[in-house]
Amino acid sequence: MYQKPKIGQIELDGWAVLAPMAGVSDLAYRVIARRMGAAMTTAEMVSAKGLYYKNEKTREMLKIDPGEHPV
Ligand SMILES: Cc1cc2nc3c(=O)[nH]c(=O)nc-3n(C[C@H](O)[C@H](O)[C@H](O)COP(=O)(O)O)c2cc1C
Repeated sequence: MYQKPKIGQIELDGWAVLAPMAGVSDLAYRVIARRMGAAMTTAEMVSAKGLYYKNEKTREMLKIDPGEHPV
């Protein structure tokens, strides 16, 4: 019987997931990838230093659309 892939408690709808791509996988790209069948997406790399210094562009990169989980 087909078992859905799981990461911890999170059950995925398929095996195709979006690879992490710095400078590419922003929110709009991830939403499109989910609509096109990606079972899970990965955000861009986010600078810890940017978060520490409360950089607005860095915080913007952490925005996640409510419909795009699991990210
Ligand atoms: C433009 C671009 C940016 C990438 N950025 C990252 C990254 O930030 N972190 C990472 O672990 N891999 C990064 N990768 C590697 C991809 O996640 C992936 O491992 C690679 O493209 C191989 O995928 P494939 O085996 O499906 O061909 C990047 C790849 C591309 C093409």
